[in-house]
Amino acid sequence: MADLAGWRVLVTAGGTREPIDPVRYIGNRSSGKMGNAIAEAAADRGAAVTLITTVTPPDFEGSVIEVETADQMAEAVWSMNDQDVVVMAAAVADFRPAAVHEAKLSRRDGPPVIELEPTPDILAGVVERATGATIVGFAAETGSLDRAVAKALDKGVDVLVANDVLAEGSGFGTTTNAVTVILADGSSQPWPLMSKREVADRLLDLLLAMRSGSD
Ligand code: PMT
Repeated sequence: MADLAGWRVLVTAGGTREPIDPVRYIGNRSSGKMGNAIAEAAADRGAAVTLITTVTPPDFEGSVIEVETADQMAEAVWSMNDQDVVVMAAAVADFRPAAVHEAKLSRRDGPPVIELEPTPDILAGVVERATGATIVGFAAETGSLDRAVAKALDKGVDVLVANDVLAEGSGFGTTTNAVTVILADGSSQPWPLMSKREVADRLLDLLLAMRSGSD
């Protein structure tokens, strides 16, 4: 099936790592499985895929840009203004250490005080650039997904895929996910637990319908 032939699809995956010193970083639990599944599904369906990732990429027909920090991911994402679809499945740190120590912090010096500063909001930058791409954000929530509708409207995305990362079989590191898909008008559709690949294909079906004006 090559129903996405001619599409350029940008996907982010994995969790950013924000250095504290040459050895340690602030990170999160994203394995990259959700983003990888979307990149693979889109490539299998004929799209030209660029995957911007912090983790080992899948073996797939597409180009890969490996990054580590939110800054690097922002630069890579914002440099690609000619996409039809942008899917931000990566878990991006909201804060990073304001200063990175050049040498490894020593236990002998006692616990350090680490001042944090905000990272760039990559998704907001994509929305601001208004390139005509259909923009999909993900939202990692813990418990209720109520905040996700407000987040979708706030972020100005076309689709927000919310997952409860505390629910069984859902969220970080799992091969399955249970997501609620929220559209720009605030309407939402809860999807049952399914494999991340099935979530990916169902999301691409939705985008196909939206971009052909039938949804
Ligand atoms: O990788 P897996 O182990 O398979 O797990 C999948 C997942 C749980 C990581 C994925 O399904 C998911 O929920 N990804 C988004 C995680 C997240 O960062 O959620 P958020 O609610 O903090 O951010 C909302 C959106 O803004 C996301 O699209 C995020 O990529 C984006 N963002 C966040 C912060 C920031 N500084 N810049 C951003 O662009």
